[in-house]
Amino acid sequence: MAMAATSRDADVFDEAVRGTCDDASLCKRYAVSIGYWKDPYIEYFVRQPKERKAPEISRGYYARVQGVSQLLTAFLKKTECNCQIINLGAGLDTLFWKLKDENLLPKKYFEVDFPSIATRKIHHIKSKPPLSKPIMESHSGESLLIDAHSLDSSRYAIISADLRELSKLEESLKKCNMDPQLPTLLVAECVLIYMTAEHSSALLRWATSTFPTAMFINYEQVNMADRFGQIMIENLQSRQCNLVGVEVCSSLESQRARFLASGWQTARSVDMMDVYSRLPPADVKRIEALEFLDEKELLEQLMHHYCLCWATKDTCGLGLADIGL
Ligand SMILES: C[S@@+](CC[C@H](N)C(=O)[O-])C[C@H]1O[C@@H](n2cnc3c(N)ncnc32)[C@H](O)[C@@H]1O
Repeated sequence: MAMAATSRDADVFDEAVRGTCDDASLCKRYAVSIGYWKDPYIEYFVRQPKERKAPEISRGYYARVQGVSQLLTAFLKKTECNCQIINLGAGLDTLFWKLKDENLLPKKYFEVDFPSIATRKIHHIKSKPPLSKPIMESHSGESLLIDAHSLDSSRYAIISADLRELSKLEESLKKCNMDPQLPTLLVAECVLIYMTAEHSSALLRWATSTFPTAMFINYEQVNMADRFGQIMIENLQSRQCNLVGVEVCSSLESQRARFLASGWQTARSVDMMDVYSRLPPADVKRIEALEFLDEKELLEQLMHHYCLCWATKDTCGLGLADIGL
């Protein structure tokens, strides 16, 4: 007999979803330590994992970081950084610090995550000068607001919110001076799949109705209806983590369609094997020399089960639809 989900089940599930943020950061930290890419800030958020990670995982993260970065940099160039970025379910991501180092900061960079994740991130920032100094350096004007659950400086904000509660989300963003008229880039990396299709489409619709000029970059699972996808689902389920939004991740077409159905004007999607094969050959040669990979087939299967999807709405005519990989 099917049992109704209780609020305790929902709490356990949300806790498991929050745990995925550590997984992502540990994998990134490991790949950085091997030399896949440079990130001098990740060591302040997570300890080096005790066990090694499989090379296909690190190569997958490399393709993800490069792919997202290419799209994001193209948006910053099109808007000449006269824009804002909202990183949804940002976890312990270090993108703000990277953009600051590259002199590519938008007018304001917002991060949103559950209160417990935001609190942890703020604690790290407060206690580690290499993290807090760049925020202070980019800050001007009135005093910087920081408490246990939120941080608001002139160029960077961390907001505690549940992405399923859109009016509270909007209110919190507005309190931190989010400007709907600025070209806005929304980024979600492995986040939407943890929300039901109704919740994620409400979020996408909220974004198009709030921002006249915007782009959305979504990185997450795809082709999940096949046997390999089923195993991925079962692995996460064994850790209490249900991919409740998996139905939208059945194909590249379903990923694109969800954006078009939510009011976005253009949407494109590619799987990560495609992204990997478009990387500069010299970069691929360098990273493939870092670790020996026995199972090329496993890498390919894994890469066929993740994708990048990006969507635009361009009322100002900035040429956002031309952005591609
Ligand atoms: C797999 S982690 C990815 C973190 C980060 N985007 C990255 O790529 O490193 C998923 C993140 O989404 C957050 N998240 C998932 N559902 C959320 C929701 N409804 N509201 C706020 N944050 C959410 C989780 O707490 C977690 O930090």
